[in-house]
Amino acid sequence: MNSQYLSGRVMDNGQRTDSLGLLRLHVPGLAMAQPGQFVHLTCGTDLTLPRPFSILNSHPEAQTIDLLYRVVGEGTRRMATWQPGFVTPLLGPIGRPFTRPPTGTRAVLVAGGVGVAPLDFLARRLVAQGVPVTVLWGLEAESPFPVAVDPGRAGLAEGLAVCHWQAQGIVSRLSAMTPREGFFQGTVVALAAEYVQSLTPEERGKVLLYTCGPWPMMAALAQVADRFSLRGEASLEARMACGFGACVGCVAWMRDGGAGYYRRVCVDGPVFPLAEVDWQRPG
Ligand SMILES: Cc1cc2nc3c(=O)[nH]c(=O)nc-3n(C[C@H](O)[C@H](O)[C@H](O)COP(=O)(O)OP(=O)(O)OC[C@H]3O[C@@H](n4cnc5c(N)ncnc54)[C@H](O)[C@@H]3O)c2cc1C
Ligand code: FES
Repeated sequence: MNSQYLSGRVMDNGQRTDSLGLLRLHVPGLAMAQPGQFVHLTCGTDLTLPRPFSILNSHPEAQTIDLLYRVVGEGTRRMATWQPGFVTPLLGPIGRPFTRPPTGTRAVLVAGGVGVAPLDFLARRLVAQGVPVTVLWGLEAESPFPVAVDPGRAGLAEGLAVCHWQAQGIVSRLSAMTPREGFFQGTVVALAAEYVQSLTPEERGKVLLYTCGPWPMMAALAQVADRFSLRGEASLEARMACGFGACVGCVAWMRDGGAGYYRRVCVDGPVFPLAEVDWQRPG
């Protein structure tokens, strides 16, 4: 699907935590956006570059999309002030989405922090297609907690579950480095390794990993994938200027056994096969 210059009207913009916001935009023209695609959003006409954000969800009937954003700098600080009715230009939907898994796949989604956005969208789509989905989400020091969790499972071996996933039959587990009730203590990659190890060889053979999060997290997950001979896809982040493939400012290195080659994250990605990315060479 070709990206277009569009206008997004703010329908809702709620703070989920001190630093996380959930923005709903009315954007006719984005209804067919796929999980893994993103928008390049103008956060202020005086800011030279737009900011890229993964699409968290699209609601074709209402012609709205949701974005989950972490306030980290000037652009996202401005986003956090937008009130319903505010209109902003954007380019979208951009990029190659996650690919549809083959029949019989068991999808294991591994998210780091706000990297959960494209994976949440993917989880909903996959489960609607009858694919069994497990989401493993690494979170740190979010206060209050950004989504509703099922306290009934706190203290159980499985730990806390995210309510909106549980309601759709999506298995979820959370991790944090600091001790938190109902969380796996450690990295989300350690949780993923433990989870994969707990599967039977037959179940493991059906696993496809999907990941989005900080580069070191995904690089460590790629090692786990190698160890267990798992295939998967990763949604990469890169600093972006144009957002349509012209400036070559957003490249990531791929490996081919030789010198390697680069790909533009905005239009050749942001989703790439886990095994293709050169994880030793952050872009
Ligand atoms: C494909 C893609 C999807 C993304 N999805 C999300 C999402 O769903 N939620 C979310 O909170 N963040 C997401 N990000 C990161 C988000 O784009 C940055 O946090 C945001 O651009 C920061 O802007 P700022 O003005 O607040 O920060 P500043 O640091 O002031 O930004 C200065 C410049 O650096 C760029 N920049 C800063 N951090 C990043 C970064 N991590 N990645 C790319 N460019 C960056 C900005 O676009 C801007 O041009 C995504 C990035 C990419 C590439
Ligand atoms: S941002 Fe310009 S080529 Fe990707």
